Amino acid sequence: MTQKKTILSGMRPTGKLHLGHLVGALENWVALQGEYNNYHLIADYHVLTTNLDSSQIYANAIDMTIDWLAAGIDPARSPIFRQSQVKEHTELHLLFSMLITAARLERNPAVKDQVRDLNIENITYGHLGYPVLQAADILLYKGDLVPVGEDQVPHVEIAREIARRFNTQYGGVFPEPEPKLTKFARLPGLDGKRMSKSIGNTILLSDQPDAIQQKMRGAVTDVQKVRKNDPGRPEVCLVFTYHQKFNPGETTEIETGCRSGALGCVECKKRACAKITDALTPFREKRAYFDAHPGEVEEILKDGESRARVRAAATMAEVRTAMKFG
Ligand code: TRP
Repeated sequence: MTQKKTILSGMRPTGKLHLGHLVGALENWVALQGEYNNYHLIADYHVLTTNLDSSQIYANAIDMTIDWLAAGIDPARSPIFRQSQVKEHTELHLLFSMLITAARLERNPAVKDQVRDLNIENITYGHLGYPVLQAADILLYKGDLVPVGEDQVPHVEIAREIARRFNTQYGGVFPEPEPKLTKFARLPGLDGKRMSKSIGNTILLSDQPDAIQQKMRGAVTDVQKVRKNDPGRPEVCLVFTYHQKFNPGETTEIETGCRSGALGCVECKKRACAKITDALTPFREKRAYFDAHPGEVEEILKDGESRARVRAAATMAEVRTAMKFG
């Protein structure tokens, strides 16, 4: 019998999740549940790297847990846990921070982008060490694979380097984790840019049908298709991407209609909206259930956290032995 590989997936709890999270990450996580051992990490400490206000972190973690559960993550199979509740994360982070140079971390393009986007003048020590904490997240559970988007690949590369460095210096404890990219390219937001809460161009998984409708009405389409019967270019239209994802059976017809000018944007959006709303109906129902049963959500986290602790403690014991801390 070959042993199942381990997947460590994680997100920062920054609020309610949107369609981009579903398509870019959650669907993938759910699909991988049977084939692998999964750990689902809520990176609540990582939130502090860009926002010191910790007052919303707990509420956001609960909201994110509900979104995960509603999307089909099965907590009986795969523990869901907060980083802050498993002390070994901070311990391994410290040891790992000795195994990578500051210069290497300063070169990390993912952190560089963030510093530029958020206009950060002086990066904190903790923010620079973002990927070091992420490496501890992954390696505590001996994650073989990390499902991430393109933008996170540099972080996983750093985790690989740290694992290698540790193994060379102290003996082989860690696997070298690999990124596992999602098949579907990133879903654009309603303005055609990357779907992101900070830009405000999202459809939330928890949005009610009328909210989805209203948001879709404002979606940007091909700017050259001004009048209803102008021919359009589906390849530049975000609504067409939504059709490809949520309405695969009708994409050929939509594409032809758009190109010829027979299909106007209003009608096209209506049809996409209907499909998205349908796709989210089971999600909304499950979400409503957990919203009404907060005690169950807390129990799920408690249970996930105690299971994660057992795994994390076992790895730390190996680390201490390898390093001869006794
Ligand atoms: N950096 C990830 C994000 O912003 C969150 C994260 C923290 C993570 N630790 C992780 C992702 C470990 C995968 C594995 O989405």
